Amino acid sequence: MNRTFIDACKGQETDYTPIWIMRQAGRYLPQYQKIREKVDFLTLCKTPGLAAEVTIQPLDILGVDAAILFSDILIPLEPMGFDLEFSEKIGPVIHNPIRDRETLSSITSFNPEAVSFVVDTIKILKRSIKVPLIGFSGAPFTLATYVIEGGTSKNFINTKGLLYREHSLFEQIMEGLTEMVKDYLLMQIRAGVDAVQIFDTWLGILPPEEILSITSNYVAYLIEELKKYADIPIIYFPFNCGSSLHLLRQLPIDVLGLDWRIEPLRAIEMTGKDVSIQGNLDPCVLFGSRETITKKTIEILRSAKGARGHVFNLGHGVLPETPVDNVKFLVDTVHQLSSKERRDG
Ligand code: CP3
Repeated sequence: MNRTFIDACKGQETDYTPIWIMRQAGRYLPQYQKIREKVDFLTLCKTPGLAAEVTIQPLDILGVDAAILFSDILIPLEPMGFDLEFSEKIGPVIHNPIRDRETLSSITSFNPEAVSFVVDTIKILKRSIKVPLIGFSGAPFTLATYVIEGGTSKNFINTKGLLYREHSLFEQIMEGLTEMVKDYLLMQIRAGVDAVQIFDTWLGILPPEEILSITSNYVAYLIEELKKYADIPIIYFPFNCGSSLHLLRQLPIDVLGLDWRIEPLRAIEMTGKDVSIQGNLDPCVLFGSRETITKKTIEILRSAKGARGHVFNLGHGVLPETPVDNVKFLVDTVHQLSSKERRDG
C-alpha cells in the first residue's frame, strides 16, 4: 500500500505532499453519472459492488493518494427510524425531524448490523485498492442539524432554538448521535478502513462558546473512544470555523481539515504544532486558469510548510460543474511541485 497519506497524517516525512479530494467520487465525473443514470443515490450507497466501483473511479482517473468510502453522512440515520430521502431537487430530506420529546421517542438506538452493506463495501475495497481507504461519519452536531431541521437550512432556527430553549433535550439528542457515530466508526475501523474523517459541516453556525462546549463535550469524547481501539489517523473537519480554531487545541486529533477562509500558516499558529493539516484550496479555483491553479497551489504548499504534516485537499467538496481535467491538473501539480521542493530542499 502507498502509505504517503498515512505518513503525512502522522507527521512523518514523505517524498511528496499527498492529495485526495473531498467528494472525489461524484457528479463532476461522467463515469459516476453513467452509474447514477441506472440507480438512485441511496441504492448506490447500499449496493456494495457499485459503491466500491464509484469509490475506485477517482483513483484511476485522478491518481489521488487516498480513497474515501462512497456513502453519505446521513446513511446511518435511516435504521434509527429517520425517514430519509435524497431529493434530486432539494437534496437530503428527513421527513420526521425531532423537535420535541415526543418525536424523539420514536427514534431507536443505532444497530451497526443494519448498515452491513458498508462493511461489505469496505471489504471489497480493501481487496482491490493500493492506497489507504478513508472511512467517515458526520460529527454529532452536524447530524443533529439534519435530524432537527429535517434537511439543509438557512438560519438553523429549529436547531439553535432547541439548543437555547430546551438544552436538556438538545443534549439528549447529541448524546444519542455521539454514541451512534462512535459505533458506526468503530464498525468501519474493524472492517478495515485506514483512517477516518469526521465532517462537522455546520459547526461554524455557532458562536465560539458553543463551539467550545460541543467539541469538548462530544467530539473529544468520541475521538478518545476511537483512539482506545485503534491507532489510525483521525481527521476532524470543522467547516467555517477559522476564527475558533484556537478553541480546538485540546482535541486529540491527528489532522485538522481547513476550509479556504484561513491561511494554513495562521491555522498552525492557532492550533499549535501537534497536528497535521488538510486542505485548503477554494473549490472554485478549479474554474480558473492553469496559471491560477498553480499559483494558489504554491501558496498553500508554502503556507502549510510549518505544519507537522500536510495533506492537500480542497477546502470543501469538489463542485458538480468542475472540469475533470483541472482536477487532474491539480493532483499532478501538487505531486510535482512538492516532490521537486523535497529534492531541492
Ligand atoms: O467524498 C466522497 O467522495 C465520499 C462520499 C460523500 C458523499 N457525501 C457523497 C454524496 C461524503 C463524504 C459525503 C458527506 C456529506 N454528505 C456531508 C459532509 C461533507 C460536506 O459536503 O460538507 C454532508 C453535509 C452531506 C449531506 C448531503 N449529501 C447533501 C447536503 C447532499 C446534497 C447536495 C449535493 O452535494 O448533492 C448529499 C448528496 C450526496 N452525497 C451526493 C454525493 C455524491 C450527490 C448525490 C447524487 O445526486 O449523486
